[in-house]
Amino acid sequence: MAFNDLRSFVKRADELGLCKTVEGADWHLEIGAITELGLHKPKQPMLLFDNVKGYPSGYRIVSNFLNTCKLVALAFDLPLEAENLDLVRAWRDKIQAEFSPVPPVEVKTGPVMENVHVGDDIDLYEFPTPKWHELDGGRYIGTGNMVVQQDPDTGWVNCGTYRVAVHGRDIATVYMSPGRHGDVMRKKYWAQGKPCPAAIVCGSEPLMWSMAHSAIAREVSEYDYAGWLRGEPVEIVRGEYTKLPIPATAEIVLEGEMMPPGTETVPEGPFGEWPGYYASGARDEPIFRVKSIMHRNNPILLGAPPQVGPYDMFFGKNIMRAGIIWNELDKNVPGIKGVWLPCEGRGPSIIIASVDQKYAGHAKQTANFLSGYYQAAYMCRFIIVIDGDLDPSNFGDVLWALGTRCDPAENIDVLKGCWGTPLDTMLPPGKRANKDFSHSQGIIVACRPFYWMNEFPPTVKGSPELMKATKEKWGKEVFGDD
Ligand SMILES: Cc1cc2nc3c(=O)[nH]c(=O)nc-3n(C[C@H](O)[C@H](O)[C@H](O)COP(=O)(O)O)c2cc1C
Repeated sequence: MAFNDLRSFVKRADELGLCKTVEGADWHLEIGAITELGLHKPKQPMLLFDNVKGYPSGYRIVSNFLNTCKLVALAFDLPLEAENLDLVRAWRDKIQAEFSPVPPVEVKTGPVMENVHVGDDIDLYEFPTPKWHELDGGRYIGTGNMVVQQDPDTGWVNCGTYRVAVHGRDIATVYMSPGRHGDVMRKKYWAQGKPCPAAIVCGSEPLMWSMAHSAIAREVSEYDYAGWLRGEPVEIVRGEYTKLPIPATAEIVLEGEMMPPGTETVPEGPFGEWPGYYASGARDEPIFRVKSIMHRNNPILLGAPPQVGPYDMFFGKNIMRAGIIWNELDKNVPGIKGVWLPCEGRGPSIIIASVDQKYAGHAKQTANFLSGYYQAAYMCRFIIVIDGDLDPSNFGDVLWALGTRCDPAENIDVLKGCWGTPLDTMLPPGKRANKDFSHSQGIIVACRPFYWMNEFPPTVKGSPELMKATKEKWGKEVFGDD
């Protein structure tokens, strides 16, 4: 079932016992730290913060909402019992069909219009925006957000997740890495000496939000893509100020203009970024001047702060990314048995694939494809290929392969000058100063060598048949298995 808004997703998660309400936490670091505590629990609940210190009851924040298999399955309408690689399989089945755009439909009004503030009524401090991490340069209202913009030449509507900091009652900043679709669009307005209009949605249902931080092709609107995945169009209303399309059921929307650089700037950052560090520091950024705020009664702010833990906000993103990569890999290389991106590796940094080797060079071919493929290449530091009898989502299997099927001198290659980011912690100061954000990539093939695979020693693990029969006969009695 597709959810029409964030609150119906939260309600359903609560009914399933997947949500925990936290009363009375402080926006200043406490909400961030409670969110971080949850990241180490495989069955952690989604967190719903209410009665935030100094704020009225009903002004809520949600975090850790896509950090477990069950929550991801619920949000993406996949089987709730699917775990890890099975969840990736279910997702890749869902996106297997050829994409056919389902454009949004415009409605006259919607719940997001319940409260509209303009002029002196605009106050970004109305919301209990957290200061998420100790060294953050301020409070970040946009972490689980999407920024809606329209290309001035083509009319294409893009939605992207770019962090948003609060600097005053009507002043914010939007941080876009160079080359993001939103950055390309705003530079077109700026080249004409004009501010760039934008609507920042801070609270939408998680499938729509997930499209905003996925690398959807140029000229394809995330609205059309989300409509296709949902099997029904997203309902949109026109923003009061920008007339940009915004989800009718959004929780909070900030409308305004990104001022051209050099006109009005403020220092942005540092911020706890996705690699798990404050790597890009602080720098002057053009301001986003807020012209209207729209919000629902009792609004819920969606929070997806980058943090470090095995079940962090990358969990859902990496399930999605693994499915997309696996589908594409399958079209190019035979025998692929699985693809996994461990979120412990921080986002896209480590990709593990398993393959049933059929010819010499097959495993390396798998790695080579991943190395250059658009959805896999960005900031990918290690590619590990293991045999198809092993599960790439199982750390035990992966480490076993590294420990027993890999001779470093023979099976590790290093590629230099790969596609990177200023957020990379390993950029030496000189390289950073020269704006050379490239990095190297380690390609590790931890597979039985193809040309003497038949002589490779058999494993001591019991055969699947023996283990299945033994489990059925003895598992319950000896180990209490179901
Ligand atoms: C929680 C989260 C926060 C993100 N923050 C930023 C950000 O501050 N700046 C940025 O350029 N990209 C950020 N990204 C990555 C972009 O959202 C992602 O690259 C997306 O594809 C951008 O949209 P675009 O391809 O339409 O430009 C973030 C992703 C996530 C999941």
